[in-house]
Amino acid sequence: MVADPSNMDIKEAVPIPNTRVVVRDQEGLDRKKRAIRAAGPQRLQIVSDFDMTLTRFNVNGKKGQSCHSLLSQKNDQYNQMRQDLYKHYYPLEIDQSIPYDKKVKLMEEWYEKSHATLLEGGLTLDEIRDSVANANVAFREETAQLFELLDSKRVPVLIFSAGLADVLEEVLRQKLHRAFGNIRVVSNRMKFDEEGRLQSFVGSLIHSLNKNEHAIALAGPMHDEQGRVLDDLEHREPSDGSTEPAIDGLDGRSVVAGRNNVILLGDHLGDLGMSRGVDVDEQISIAFLNDKVEENLEVFASSFDVVLIGDGSMKEVITIVEDIL
Ligand code: TMP
Ligand code: MG
Repeated sequence: MVADPSNMDIKEAVPIPNTRVVVRDQEGLDRKKRAIRAAGPQRLQIVSDFDMTLTRFNVNGKKGQSCHSLLSQKNDQYNQMRQDLYKHYYPLEIDQSIPYDKKVKLMEEWYEKSHATLLEGGLTLDEIRDSVANANVAFREETAQLFELLDSKRVPVLIFSAGLADVLEEVLRQKLHRAFGNIRVVSNRMKFDEEGRLQSFVGSLIHSLNKNEHAIALAGPMHDEQGRVLDDLEHREPSDGSTEPAIDGLDGRSVVAGRNNVILLGDHLGDLGMSRGVDVDEQISIAFLNDKVEENLEVFASSFDVVLIGDGSMKEVITIVEDIL
């Protein structure tokens, strides 16, 4: 239920320049923090959107690119086709007057056509690498520190995206310069042939309306630069000093089994749906409000526990996680 914004008691703090933190219900947030702390790190999972949540909204004075928008094939005809599809379907995606069932069909249509252009155009791993190298994309400051902190406490991170898993992972590798064993990516994953040419997509489609933990069967671990599956924490040397037990298994379902407390990170109201499918005990939802701040602040503040304004770093998220762990 969305609270009446006129009744909201919005408290603001200014922890670092350019980031405003808005918490509608500080007491409620503190209560959730205490409950999650008491249950311990073994009961916690992080659920995060990718584009404009982990990555910045503005990069080098321009709008940052998403996994889809950064992708460029050598044969420009296919880029043009995907752009034309975007121009047709994106307005439908954000049109609130279209009934849900009809919109699901439209999204399926869009993703099928878009994926078909990648298949027909014979997308290659090299094209993905080059696209990411030339992309205007950057992670929020301290994203690696956040992942490291969670990794040291054996807390899994599920990254949900209706984009493309292989592009997203390449962004993680190139821009964070490392892979993390506690990350599982739930997104559209590609299969490549021996020459590195796209052969097929794995599993069913993930689009913006079904981007939630029902799609968890599609979650996969990260790969390193050589394309090897990054091993899960179970097999890692205990040299990182963690005293927490290892996370079991590589697949998404087993890494989050029994973890009913959630910290959710997103930049759209729809991202709140990502934890659908989890039997949630406690959830702290944190939003990055990137765009049309004045217009969206009230509804964001009444829907998310914490709203971060100003395209800032992960500092606030780290503070909350440190508080809990
Ligand atoms: P997400 O940010 O929730 O992961 O959603 C991905 C966005 O990507 C969603 O708004 C649809 C959009 N998209 C493109 O920009 N280009 C495409 O070719 C497709 C299929 C989707
Ligand atoms: Mg996003």
